[in-house]
Amino acid sequence: DKGNHKHFMAKEIHEQPEVVGHTLAHYIDMVHERVALPSEMPFDWKKLKRLSISACGTAFYAGLVAKYWFERFAKLPVEIDIASEFRYRDAPLEEGDLAIFISQSGETADTLASLRYAKEHKLHVLSVVNVPTSTIARDSDVVMPTLAGPEIGVASTKAFTCQLAVLACLAIAAGRARGELSEADEQKLVHALIEVPRLMTQALTLEPQIEKLAVELSKTRDVLYLGRGTSFPIALEGALKLKEISYIHAEGYAAGELKHGPIALIDEKMPVIVIAPHDRVFDKTVSNMQEVAARGGRIILVTDPKGSQESTIDSAHTLTLPEMASTVTPLVYAVPVQLMAYHTAAVIGTDVDQPRNLAKSVTVE
Ligand code: F6R
Repeated sequence: DKGNHKHFMAKEIHEQPEVVGHTLAHYIDMVHERVALPSEMPFDWKKLKRLSISACGTAFYAGLVAKYWFERFAKLPVEIDIASEFRYRDAPLEEGDLAIFISQSGETADTLASLRYAKEHKLHVLSVVNVPTSTIARDSDVVMPTLAGPEIGVASTKAFTCQLAVLACLAIAAGRARGELSEADEQKLVHALIEVPRLMTQALTLEPQIEKLAVELSKTRDVLYLGRGTSFPIALEGALKLKEISYIHAEGYAAGELKHGPIALIDEKMPVIVIAPHDRVFDKTVSNMQEVAARGGRIILVTDPKGSQESTIDSAHTLTLPEMASTVTPLVYAVPVQLMAYHTAAVIGTDVDQPRNLAKSVTVE
């Protein structure tokens, strides 16, 4: 049932404040503002030398965000791979280390093959899945469920932000167990997470503005997405979402990579969507934006009030989100990025929930 939405994807985008809230409530002791994982870990976070994360597509991008979190909060080195690469690249794995697999369906063949490979090498296997009865869940030592509810639209939306919520809690738990986060640090991080559903609701109010932008986007051939730090995976996710449902060619890049190649693509016809909350890498992203503006590129800047004040690029179209702790920006900035893809596809009239050539669960390698 799509409720009063035209597509399941729209419904699922709008459900995010609620399902992310449910997911957070499952992992957080709301009274004390501490992480409280629902199950015991069969390993000691302190003894881990390295964490390997593998997943495919959107779930892989959730893992990319998590790499920044695990390294920052827990000082735990993270290797992240696309599952189809992890399995075949002969990575030296150490017995007793941890491998995390992220999957909405829990049936993705490449992710499952990687999981079995990690088990053969005697790694502890933890999975973040949305379908608790799935093969990946059954084959894991520990399962951390996302409580997104069934996701019908082929393009993943609410499962992604719920994956981020679970991974943020895990990274905080790891940081505490490894003695890298004080109680006060943890409370601050948890407090920021608790704000996310409210911030997502505010992000959804940008929809009328995004609908207008989508009319413009629907006429373009190529779109470039840029971001730094944890906004880099959100740029990748934005590009993936746009290409899979609107069939417009899109690429996501780390903003700093612009001058190493993609800048050659920029002209007046090419929209460049810049994901840039006012965080510690904001100034760097602004200089990349200036490089785009100097070449006549059309900038759509997704930022916050401070960022919009300091960006100083007149030609930019700005989508302004509320101010928030930088840890939680990937969860909230995912919302306008999803809406841009959705409304662009809706203007073009593609089959949003069932895009051509794609399946909801990819059970062949
Ligand atoms: C993108 C999308 C895919 C999946 C990928 C992994 O919108 O839906 O990229 O994220 O096929 O699927 P799961 O998470 O089921 O393993």
